[in-house]
Amino acid sequence: MSDYTVRALRPDETRTASELFRAALHVPPLKDEDWTYVGRMYQPGRTLGAFDSELIGTARSFDAELTVPGGKRLPVAAVTGVGVRADRTRRGVLSQLMRTQLADFAERGVPLAALYASEGPIYGRFGYGVSTLAHDHEIDPRRVTLRPEVPAGGEIETLGLKAALERLPEIYAGLPHPRPGAMTRPPYWWPAFERHMREEDKPPVTIVHSGPDGVDGFAVYSVQRKSWREPAVLDVIGLHAANDEAFAGLWRYLLSVDLVDVIRAEGRPVDEPTALLCTDYRVVKTTAVTDDLWLRLVDVPAALAAREYEGEPVVLEVADTLLEDNSGRYRVGQDGVSRTEAPAELRLGVDALAMLYLGAWPASALVTAGRVQAADPDAVARADRLFATRPSAWCGTHF
Ligand SMILES: CC(C)(COP(=O)(O)OP(=O)(O)OC[C@H]1O[C@@H](n2cnc3c(N)ncnc32)[C@H](O)[C@@H]1OP(=O)(O)O)[C@@H](O)C(=O)NCCC(=O)NCCS
Repeated sequence: MSDYTVRALRPDETRTASELFRAALHVPPLKDEDWTYVGRMYQPGRTLGAFDSELIGTARSFDAELTVPGGKRLPVAAVTGVGVRADRTRRGVLSQLMRTQLADFAERGVPLAALYASEGPIYGRFGYGVSTLAHDHEIDPRRVTLRPEVPAGGEIETLGLKAALERLPEIYAGLPHPRPGAMTRPPYWWPAFERHMREEDKPPVTIVHSGPDGVDGFAVYSVQRKSWREPAVLDVIGLHAANDEAFAGLWRYLLSVDLVDVIRAEGRPVDEPTALLCTDYRVVKTTAVTDDLWLRLVDVPAALAAREYEGEPVVLEVADTLLEDNSGRYRVGQDGVSRTEAPAELRLGVDALAMLYLGAWPASALVTAGRVQAADPDAVARADRLFATRPSAWCGTHF
């Protein structure tokens, strides 16, 4: 028996939840002037609180859409703001919040849930799996020479803070986001971005790229230098390009910003060809390969049926201890997905299924790691082909 209760918070309780979450992340509470806009990121009815005599834990979510292989967009509950008061951890509070949240998503018919994890060991037990990967890059711009065939790019315009906050939601929505794992940015996402943009010690700069058909890309970056004796670091906070000209044009600009010693671009797609722009491939160093988006298939049959596949079918047996309706056998093929009584060829938990779903991991790698049990090698080869995706999965919308 738990000695606490979990319920949805009222709007007047969300600021306390924000303070609890920020304390769990070891950051100070928001100032009143920041809360006036940051408070808008709380979708009504979607912040849970755990209480004993007072609030001891919280988790929230907001609605967005996620691109799945083949290009369809599925509703996704974006989970964030998860924290438990330091004097109440490791007694099941998060587990109760997660169970309540998943039951709510299932009841509302949301097929997917997703999150960014502060630490690796937390969310697998709730059926989340690493579904997109990302590269962190470090570049010495003074050593970069672009190859002669790199597109010239179009016009670059810098936007002030006000213009950036006004225009970026529409610009982002207007760009194609074909990668599996790409997410829409609803109004509940933008206040956190605004908060980031208003951080006084590193004011970000927004650049917009225009080609013959108008705006087709943008990047946001900030430059920090602790003192004139230390290197200046340009952090690429975001970069989205609709085509090759925009990609090249944005990088041409970033690589030419004056008084910069190091460029850091974190959380980039693993197959993004930044290094291929340069005469010396090695100037773009990959300093880390990290987990990007964690996905949870809330409605396994609906999620499996929504994506496209290529190749011969395979029978999966999925185990889901939290949402038991998902458990069972599925025949998955390019002609469709159906429940089946046929013998299982691959057995896996719903967390491993999330790792397969967007194509971030081949089934064979999950078999090697013991995350998937296979009846025979032929089924593994078929699953490798069925779930593979190009371009590589990437979210790039942190929340
Ligand atoms: C992460 C956090 C929310 C966990 O809350 P909690 O109430 O302690 O979690 P629970 O007691 O429900 O833990 C459930 C299980 O997960 C494990 N677990 C929880 N957090 C863990 C962590 N950070 N690392 C490793 N294991 C963890 C617990 O040991 C427990 O395992 P068990 O079932 O085998 O006993 C809490 O520690 C916290 O607020 N951390 C700081 C903020 C943060 O990182 N938030 C997440 C943002 S994405």
